[in-house]
This record gives sequence, C-alpha cells and structure tokens, in this order.
Amino acid sequence: MTAEEPLTIDARKRAAALAALELIQDGMQLGLGTGSTVEHLLGAIAERGLDVAGVPTSEATEAYCRELDLRVLHPSEVESLDLAIDGADELDHALTATKGGGGALLREKVVAAMSERFVVIATTDKLVDRLGHSFPLPIEVVPFAAGPVTRRLRERGYDVQLRTAGEGPAVVTDNGNPLLDARMVGGIEDPAVEELWIAALPGVVECGLFVDLVDHALLADEDGRVLSLEPGVS
Ligand code: 5RP
Repeated sequence: MTAEEPLTIDARKRAAALAALELIQDGMQLGLGTGSTVEHLLGAIAERGLDVAGVPTSEATEAYCRELDLRVLHPSEVESLDLAIDGADELDHALTATKGGGGALLREKVVAAMSERFVVIATTDKLVDRLGHSFPLPIEVVPFAAGPVTRRLRERGYDVQLRTAGEGPAVVTDNGNPLLDARMVGGIEDPAVEELWIAALPGVVECGLFVDLVDHALLADEDGRVLSLEPGVS
C-alpha cells in the first residue's frame, strides 16, 4: 500500500474555501476578502448559484466578482454584513491574524469590523506560535510618512522593508499608499499592544494585525481535512 500524496497548497486552500461555502445562505450580504483562497470561494459561490451580494475588499476581488456576475456592494450601502470571509498570512492560537500579504489590509479590516461574523480560511501551515517572525507584518502608511514610520519601527526592533515589485518601484495599495513589511525576530510578544502602538504613529493608515476580530477559522491540513477553530475553544 502506498501512502497518499499530500495535497498541494492550492488544493488545501480550495478545501478551506469549500468548507466556508457551507456557512453561506441565500440572501446574505457578505464581506469578500482578497487572495487566492478567497478566489476559490468566489468561484464556488458562482458555481453553486447562491443568491448573495458582497462588499469586495480590493479592486482585484471586485473585478473577479464582476467577471463571475456576483452582485457587488459598497460599504456605504449596507449597515452591517452577515458574514465576511477572508484569507490570512498567519494566525496564532488566539486566532489573531496578520493580513495584508496581498496589500488589501485596510479594506479587509474595515469589512471584517462591519461584519457580524468574520471567518478566516487558510491552510494549517499558517498557524504559528508568534506572529510577525516568519511572515512580516504589513503596515500601510501615507507616502509622506514612510521614512519616519520606518525609523520608529526600526527603533522598536523591527526589520523593515518598503514593499516593491521585485527590483521595481514601491507597491501602492488600492488606496494609493505604500506598504512597509516589518519583521520582528522571535515574533510579536503582545499583538494587542503592538496594534495600538503602531496605530498611534503619525502617518500610519493601518497595520495588518487583526486582534479580536476573527470569530472562526477553517484551516485545511495536508490530507484535506478542515480544522474548525474558534477563539477560546481548543
Ligand atoms: C491580502 C490578504 C490575504 O488574505 C492573504 O495574503 C492570504 O492570501 P492567500 O489566500 O493568497 O494565501 O491578507 O491582503
């Protein structure tokens, strides 16, 4: 008997997305995240013909929704959302997430905060003991403040890089701002403290720490099994 090949990362992302599909009901107003895991979800929503509408968290997600004929809403059109579903770059055991690998952290946080329930879909390899060590924490800043914010973060112990497209120019978000990727050797000790400290730096628009926002995580392992995690429930 030969051991089964582990699933590819993409197949695992699809498994997590399909698990989240089961949480969606006709008539819901959704928050629609950004990234490759969410793309699987959007495809599955369209394939199943669910009657839903959603606020996209990036121009890329909005363009894909339009391609799939999914109804798009603007945040000012809705009081709250029933459910937001998004990927993550890292997740700790308290279900604090880091997001923004795709540069959409600001709109993603706005949408997560206006949703009754926020569900993260990802693979189990994104679970870490401490955030910000193996994957840097994205921080969106106004262009004018990129230098001073970088200096303050370095003084605090972060290794900081301005995000660029390869050797090319700085990456700019959908809001027209650059991104700093900040890595803390050994990881971030207290994400709640760090989120407040970073937010208080003049010129910071948003940081990718999602503290006390995730209600549920669906994480696919290499056999395609999906772990369902909720904060405080082990
Ligand atoms: C975009 C994000 C994404 O959710 C995150 O980068 C995960 O992406 P993927 O699903 O492609 O692994 O935060 O800003």
